[in-house]
Amino acid sequence: MTQDELKKMVAQAAIEYVVADSIIGIGTGSTANYFIDALAEIKHTIDGTVASSEASAERLRGHGIQVFDLNSVDEISVYIDGADESDQHLHLVKGGGGALTREKIVAACSRKFVCIADDSKLVDVLGEFPLPVEVIPMARSFVGRELVKLGGRPVYREGFVTDNGNVILDVHDLSIVDPRGLEKQLNDITGVVTNGLFALKPADVLLLGTQDGVKKLER
Ligand code: A5P
Repeated sequence: MTQDELKKMVAQAAIEYVVADSIIGIGTGSTANYFIDALAEIKHTIDGTVASSEASAERLRGHGIQVFDLNSVDEISVYIDGADESDQHLHLVKGGGGALTREKIVAACSRKFVCIADDSKLVDVLGEFPLPVEVIPMARSFVGRELVKLGGRPVYREGFVTDNGNVILDVHDLSIVDPRGLEKQLNDITGVVTNGLFALKPADVLLLGTQDGVKKLER
């Protein structure tokens, strides 16, 4: 199976976690897109969705699935999204698509976070994938210097503006042995909106697409 076929398989497997008559949180990226397409088949069973990006909202609406503003929703039963990396503890690196802030917000509002990924995303130590950090534009250089002090090599994602009007620094060369500590440390830098570590609130379930089928890891 190709990587795309693994993503499609794992996205289909996540349908089992959809709670009937509830609001579903929807992530961003190619794996989340496959999930949106699968969700379209059972859209009559749910009350609607909250999306973590404009791109996902557009795809959902294209399928005739209702998308609510998060502020008009009391509870999200489950959040389903991909990741750029996961370790065995379901600590994640996210934000390759630049939607990390809304992803973290929707995940925080959800009762359960089911992460869906092909098995190339499972790593021993996070950090080979550059860690995305969303930054207020005027603080870009300052935050960059602070990230260098922490041992990282920040690279400005040129030509990219987040759905929130901010910029992204992708931090290379980090070996993230303490994901929770680093997530807090990065959040404390003035000018940082969010960082792509999901360790303080990791995924609850990780579904991995492998050549031998879907493998499930749970916290
Ligand atoms: C989006 O901002 C990211 O957090 C995605 O969840 C991540 O990049 C995974 O993308 P793919 O599903 O395309 O691999």
